[in-house]
Amino acid sequence: MLQPSTFLVFGATGGTGKHFVSLALEGGHTVKALVRNPAKLAVQNANLLVQQGSITDIADFDTLLQGTEFVISMLGDVKLQRHAKINTAFVKKLIPAMRQHGVKRFLYQAGGLSTPYKGHLSPILWTIRHTLARGFNGQHRDNEAVMEYLAEEAKDIEWMVHRAGIGSDGPSKGSLKRSESKFSIATFRDCAAYNFRTLTDSAAIHTCDLSFYAKE
Ligand SMILES: NC(=O)c1ccc[n+]([C@@H]2O[C@H](COP(=O)([O-])OP(=O)(O)OC[C@H]3O[C@@H](n4cnc5c(N)ncnc54)[C@H](OP(=O)(O)O)[C@@H]3O)[C@@H](O)[C@H]2O)c1
Repeated sequence: MLQPSTFLVFGATGGTGKHFVSLALEGGHTVKALVRNPAKLAVQNANLLVQQGSITDIADFDTLLQGTEFVISMLGDVKLQRHAKINTAFVKKLIPAMRQHGVKRFLYQAGGLSTPYKGHLSPILWTIRHTLARGFNGQHRDNEAVMEYLAEEAKDIEWMVHRAGIGSDGPSKGSLKRSESKFSIATFRDCAAYNFRTLTDSAAIHTCDLSFYAKE
């Protein structure tokens, strides 16, 4: 069982992030969150420390990173990411700030249709990406640039990328496992639970894996 720890969450008001925040708080942990609109937060809790702001304009990483053990990004802005790699620009500022504060562990949630650095998509995932899901191409390009940066320039950081597949905000469908090749369409809740478990799994360090339900 994980000792009470401090998680710094980016994307706390999002589909995955809101479940992650609840899980961490229920586990007795402290959550720091940078959010654009605090009124969107689903929970209020003495252990939830909120800083209002945007990842495109962070003035103060110090307050966010002081005392933090785990950093997680479940960020996305599909419209903006069509034209701008906002997550990559942000991660390139976050990682040096993590180094300064001695914070090592970072999980970044990308998409199952984002190609891992120096890897490839299976024919089925490639086809979905370029047909049904082509509206998310910009987001995937941004996620891919993040993976390249982490692989090339952040080897000292214990980063891990979850290439998630998400279909709904429904109830749990089971427990997701990490895999290089197996992929399920999961719920936000299950992805959040997977992220929570994976953050403390040393075997996931420097992987960009998919996730799947072992028994569906
Ligand atoms: N949704 C899916 O079906 C799906 C599937 C597979 C993978 N993914 C990946 O998972 C990641 C997260 O997706 P999601 O669907 O859980 O997220 P989401 O519901 O789209 O929410 C995105 C989060 O990012 C925050 N955000 C966006 N721009 C920001 C900014 N400038 N400053 C601060 N916060 C900002 C949003 O804040 P606001 O509430 O203020 O907008 C929100 O909390 C994405 O990288 C995506 O590629 C998503």
